[in-house]
Amino acid sequence: MQILNRRPRRNRATGVIRAMVQENTLSVNDFIFPMFVQEGTSTKVEIKSMPGIYRFTLDTLLEELKEVQSLGIKSICLFPNYPESKKDKYGSESLVSDTLYLKALSEIKSKFPDLVIMTDVALDPYSSDGHDGIVDNGKIINDETVEILVKMSIAQAKAGADIIGPSDMMDGRIGAIRKGLDAEGFTDVSIMAYTAKYASAFYGPFRDALESAPKFGDKKTYQMNPANVKEAILEAELDFAEGADIMMVKPAFSYLDVIKALKENFNIPISAYNVSGEYAMIKAAAQNGWIDGDKAMMEMLLSMKRAGADIILSYFAKEVAVLLND
Ligand code: PBG
Repeated sequence: MQILNRRPRRNRATGVIRAMVQENTLSVNDFIFPMFVQEGTSTKVEIKSMPGIYRFTLDTLLEELKEVQSLGIKSICLFPNYPESKKDKYGSESLVSDTLYLKALSEIKSKFPDLVIMTDVALDPYSSDGHDGIVDNGKIINDETVEILVKMSIAQAKAGADIIGPSDMMDGRIGAIRKGLDAEGFTDVSIMAYTAKYASAFYGPFRDALESAPKFGDKKTYQMNPANVKEAILEAELDFAEGADIMMVKPAFSYLDVIKALKENFNIPISAYNVSGEYAMIKAAAQNGWIDGDKAMMEMLLSMKRAGADIILSYFAKEVAVLLND
């Protein structure tokens, strides 16, 4: 027999003890549920590469929100899908006062005043080039893009947004948006910066959902190189100084070290975006019977909490809520 002072297995002996010593937990309060809205009425279209996730028309979205709220989910993030005919170089549709997206924000706010609504700020849903900024001679131009992003943010705040979510990765946009919001009296509207957003292969299914894939090239001149972590800290220093209320790492699952680095270095909440490709991988494997989908989902999400995420944006939000409520 070994003489051991420490036998870590004692703290794993029963379910009750394991629960007592558990270091991290998931709560429905941690989650923001990303949702998609499209034009039209009375339809919802399932996204092929994201089983269980739909593009809703505004009326069906409002119905769905009743269920979302009844599960205890308190926050959503909304993305629009626009037809090609509404897209142009400057994403002009995003600023039209009665455009689908702004209309949806204000309808949701008036019907569900307690729901926290996060928005998306970037050109891609409205861009005929499928890029997050204005394209000039094959280049994505920064400062001219930021001017549009500021206007977009103000329009969204006017429509009832609680949290503005710039997902574009242009330089200087957080400070410019903060100034713009404040100048219009929206000092209470928050900014969740997509601070460390990587040029990732895991966004594929999302681009299917929005029909927003870039028409040429890739997003590597604005989204970050997956090899870098110091650069994430630099982005965070800038976003922090420019006034971000919450800083996001995206994607989440392959970037747990980045979540940890931001959590350790900055005293504001850190969020993680459990992106479309991460959702699709688990769904595909589970549908094939290759993994236990529920268990893999919970393990994946818990790893984000363990790494330091305070908030998780996830297409799994409803499924997690159901499991946590049981
Ligand atoms: C674009 C945007 C993307 C996502 C959110 N906003 C994709 C991209 O940068 O091409 C991806 C979300 C996901 O994959 O779930 N502004």
